[in-house]
Amino acid sequence: MEPAQLDRTPFADLDSMPPEMIAMLVAALEAMSRHPEIRRVRDTAWRELRPAPGQRLLDAGCGAGDVSRALAAAVAPGGEVVALDHSSATLAAARKRHDGGEIRYVTGDVSALDLADDSFDGVWCERVLQHVDDADVAIGELIRVTRPGGRVCLLDTDWGSLAFDGVDTALAQTIVEHMHGRLTPRQVDMGRTLRRRLVGYGLHDISATPVTCYFPDPASAAVVLPMVNPQVPQESWMTPDGLRERWFDQVDRAGEDGDFLAVLTIWVVAATV
Ligand SMILES: C[S@@+](CC[C@H](N)C(=O)[O-])C[C@H]1O[C@@H](n2cnc3c(N)ncnc32)[C@H](O)[C@@H]1O
Repeated sequence: MEPAQLDRTPFADLDSMPPEMIAMLVAALEAMSRHPEIRRVRDTAWRELRPAPGQRLLDAGCGAGDVSRALAAAVAPGGEVVALDHSSATLAAARKRHDGGEIRYVTGDVSALDLADDSFDGVWCERVLQHVDDADVAIGELIRVTRPGGRVCLLDTDWGSLAFDGVDTALAQTIVEHMHGRLTPRQVDMGRTLRRRLVGYGLHDISATPVTCYFPDPASAAVVLPMVNPQVPQESWMTPDGLRERWFDQVDRAGEDGDFLAVLTIWVVAATV
């Protein structure tokens, strides 16, 4: 059975999801923020963006606002962060977690920003572009609002890099292929396309860093990889009968034996406008 391909991801229109699903996705974003491998990805991006006191920064597609709060601390005193997201539900979650920094929470579409030209010293856009209809349009908007000399920093997943060891190879391959069949094509390879997209816009000082996240046990992997997370509802798998159960038997056994391994590359690509 061919998996039904999704035109859009849940993150493309979070507000249309049931409240319990939104709560689950916000909790998942927060768990990811605490994960040491995601911290490693963000440390790489931090060094590229170089946030400094007094700057005005945009966190485009801010989700629950973990990065916005950290950026606000870095631009104090005198700076400001605009935390922008399409979803009012995630912005409400971000506002609830506000810790007093200079942050303006704004509802908006990264592909049509209601923000002035050249009005930011830098932009952070993490794991958002894989969810928009046209990443180049969104990147054009991020560049437009960044002043000449400012930095644009894009972070995105390369789901095509996902690999496992310690589990049955053919079964792992089937699971990965099934997942890829369900993803939109732009989700599969967004991370590796970012550099090319910035080159296309003629930016300079481009850096591109593939950060390969390493998960040595199922619990650590489940925070970032939905196909290893037993909490992901069975309905959203849409796998042929019995496949999910066989897969989790393998994952659990590898976890018990201590030889489970998963890797996924997340790209950090930055450039000067
Ligand atoms: C995977 S989450 C990442 C959130 C946050 N950047 C992080 O890394 O924790 C993707 C976010 O992008 C937002 N998003 C998706 N499409 C968007 C758009 N067109 N404009 C603005 N935000 C969008 C979603 O609402 C969601 O909060």
